[in-house]
Amino acid sequence: MNAPKRLAILISGRGSNVPSIQQVLKQQHLNATLAAIYSNRADAPGLRLAKTDAIPTRVVEHRDYADRDAFDQALHRHLVSDDIDAVILAGFMRILGPALVREWQGRMLNIHPSLLPLYPGLDTHARALAAGDSHAGASVHYVTPQLDGGPVIIQSKVAIEAGDDPDSLSRRVLQTENIIYPLAVEWMLQGRLEYRDNNCYLDQELREQPVLWQQDQLHFEYAVPT
Ligand code: GRF
Repeated sequence: MNAPKRLAILISGRGSNVPSIQQVLKQQHLNATLAAIYSNRADAPGLRLAKTDAIPTRVVEHRDYADRDAFDQALHRHLVSDDIDAVILAGFMRILGPALVREWQGRMLNIHPSLLPLYPGLDTHARALAAGDSHAGASVHYVTPQLDGGPVIIQSKVAIEAGDDPDSLSRRVLQTENIIYPLAVEWMLQGRLEYRDNNCYLDQELREQPVLWQQDQLHFEYAVPT
């Protein structure tokens, strides 16, 4: 058997997507290991979670570097020396520059709390509410030099309810993130996903649209792990 694929999850805060990704690695026999949790902040609460589970951690504080390039280079050096095969951004609040992104293109995923291409950047739920949208959601996408602009693999769609505020919406969307992110990671590790010519292929088929996971209408085309 080939050596297990080594994943790094990069966080800046709670690492709220880490447990569901860990779970899929354990349950789905994916021949992969969570090699390290990286953070750009030493005080990220998600690092405590990693310690509890004895997952190696690495802090690369952006404040220790003169500029974005220097930080990116340091991050890249660590990822290479830790022998990382794929990078999972999960609430990692630093914009990565094009040189670093190109090094990892096709091997770096992010989750963004909106129905991309709507609302790249910050405050996505507040913006969806202000626009009077009927739905919010989350998108798992390949990372490319365009911020939150890489090809989307899978999205969850969540109905906005009367009385929602950004916090209530974010809580409901996060629950769906915990379903769709592990699924995308699973597909990647199974070799079912491919990034080519700025497109996403699943099972060798070009995805013109992302896979859609919607709780209330079963648009979902793939079995959700129970
Ligand atoms: C999630 O909403 C995710 O979509 C975004 O960061 C949030 C999780 O961050 N990229 P955290 O785990 O609460 O720090």
